Amino acid sequence: MEHDKIAVIDFGGQYAHLIATKVRRLGVLAEIRQPEDPLDLFRPYQGIIISGSPSLSAFGEDSDYTRGIYDLDVPILGLCFGHQEIAKHYGGRVVHGGREWGLAQLNIIRDHPLFSGLSRREQVWMSHFDSVTALGQGFEELGYTVDSTGKEHRFAAIGSDKYRRYGFQYHPEVDDTINGERMLRNFVIDICGCRPSWNMRQYLQEQLARLRERIGKRTVFLLVSGGVDSTVAAVLLGKAIGPQQLHLLHIDNGLMRLEESRRVLENFRSLGLDRHLHFVDASREFLSALQGVIEPEQKRRIIGETFIRVFEAEASRLGIRDHLLGQGTIYPDTIETGGTRRADTIKTHHNRVPLVEEMIAAGRVIEPLAELYKVEVRELARELGLPEEVIERHPFPGPGLGVRLLCSDGREDRSHFEEIEPTLEKVVSRFGLRAQVLPIRSVGVKADLRSYEHPVLLSGQASWQTLQDATSAITAEVPHVNRCIWNLVDFEPRGARPVAAGMSRERLELLRRADALVNEALVKYGLYRVVWQCPTVLVPLSFAGRSGELIVLRPVLSERAMTARAAELPATMIEELRKELLQLPGVGALALDLTSKPPGTIEWE
Ligand code: XMP
Repeated sequence: MEHDKIAVIDFGGQYAHLIATKVRRLGVLAEIRQPEDPLDLFRPYQGIIISGSPSLSAFGEDSDYTRGIYDLDVPILGLCFGHQEIAKHYGGRVVHGGREWGLAQLNIIRDHPLFSGLSRREQVWMSHFDSVTALGQGFEELGYTVDSTGKEHRFAAIGSDKYRRYGFQYHPEVDDTINGERMLRNFVIDICGCRPSWNMRQYLQEQLARLRERIGKRTVFLLVSGGVDSTVAAVLLGKAIGPQQLHLLHIDNGLMRLEESRRVLENFRSLGLDRHLHFVDASREFLSALQGVIEPEQKRRIIGETFIRVFEAEASRLGIRDHLLGQGTIYPDTIETGGTRRADTIKTHHNRVPLVEEMIAAGRVIEPLAELYKVEVRELARELGLPEEVIERHPFPGPGLGVRLLCSDGREDRSHFEEIEPTLEKVVSRFGLRAQVLPIRSVGVKADLRSYEHPVLLSGQASWQTLQDATSAITAEVPHVNRCIWNLVDFEPRGARPVAAGMSRERLELLRRADALVNEALVKYGLYRVVWQCPTVLVPLSFAGRSGELIVLRPVLSERAMTARAAELPATMIEELRKELLQLPGVGALALDLTSKPPGTIEWE
């Protein structure tokens, strides 16, 4: 069937693919195109959307991409970097400066089809360093934003009905732009005139046909963690090629949750996927490979490569040859690993380590979900008739507790403290809270780039809104800080010091028990489905006069994990968890992560 379709030009922003998904959700097929694709490839589309980019300078005045798109007689919408490109191309001005990230209020200046069905003030979400400061002939300002400090930013939405060119400085594709989908709908359906004809049922049929053709008579050996992604991949492959050609391998890497492997195997049996279900306990191999490793990217690479080594050894032990490696990789795994041409490496996902990349290049990998986000995987799972408890399970990263158990050689990391501390003190005093910078680091993402910076521990009582505002202000105004956590114990934790701690079985056992308590509490308080994911993190820091390490709770609200907001937990639940967690031997302090993504990431490493 011929679909009306939209081209999304991927300038490497973390959100290019998200734009495509959101358009597909409107029932319109969206395809990713590269900036230098020949003009002819852009002709079949009813409209074009230009994405954000992590590095404006590389695409500044002399950047090269197919500018012939501006001669095509179809509407074009630019987002963030795309917005700036459109302004520039038609004679406007873009400068370095005016940076914003996080939430802002969009004030719509006049009625326009782009904003039909919306109110005059809308919550939008920002992540940019550069700004448009003047418009060319034929363009008008359609909206401006006001940030959380009350400052105005002009030209947040611009347009020219004459040329049918539009730009938003904010990101309508992220869930935090509350009515972003409506804005995209107004562009795609009303302005471009696309007729909706795409849906998940049809995608499933198309995908089954594609898989059969690609796999042919070969065997697929699929790694299954038991999460929703690998389970859906298994069911989908089973449907496409039948159980005879499909082998499943579950590896216990020693970084799983309490009782996880047993549950995973039971689950595959109950789904009838046990014809060739294999299990290997490789915890010893993983933990010895991780001895003495502290740096998160190194940890991730070791875990990913150990998976492949164990997998290959199992394949040869079982006598499986000429197989394809199957993985339940979803789109964020690729984009965050810097897997599209222009994206920065935020984190190397376990299924995107160089060894896997080599196998992909050799045509030896099959990843049936590689273009989907978690919400779409769940939609597909429903289409495939999977039970709700599988569909609604919280996502769990491939490297498991490995990226939630921070390690340290005991040395303090006080880099940039002289720069951080005076500014931090000034900012935090506005909120009536106390703050200390912690001498360790965690991973974050700022304006599409990876950051590895210090967390700040806040103490004191304040409303949730104040805590959120303080966090936004600190991460925006204090250099070298990407995360804020809030003290949950009833003493003031002072003098944070790293303790030497590695990836030991004892620490893993402690984290496993803490994680189980947190998950039980989420279920008990009816929050398991409200909260999207809740990592429990063990941080090797102790405080003056206390023994034991710091546990951080990281409940988040999200839909696709590309952006997230910290979730508030009820005071009674916190109280209960405080008692239970502080009783665990080896726990000395407890805190709640307040950071949104960006500038934090969901996981700490
Ligand atoms: P971050 O920490 O980047 O995580 O905000 C986004 C989502 O991805 C999950 N995650 C992973 N999933 N392999 C996976 O399969 C990985 O290596 C990996 N790293 C992070 C994370 O749990 C969150 O849901």
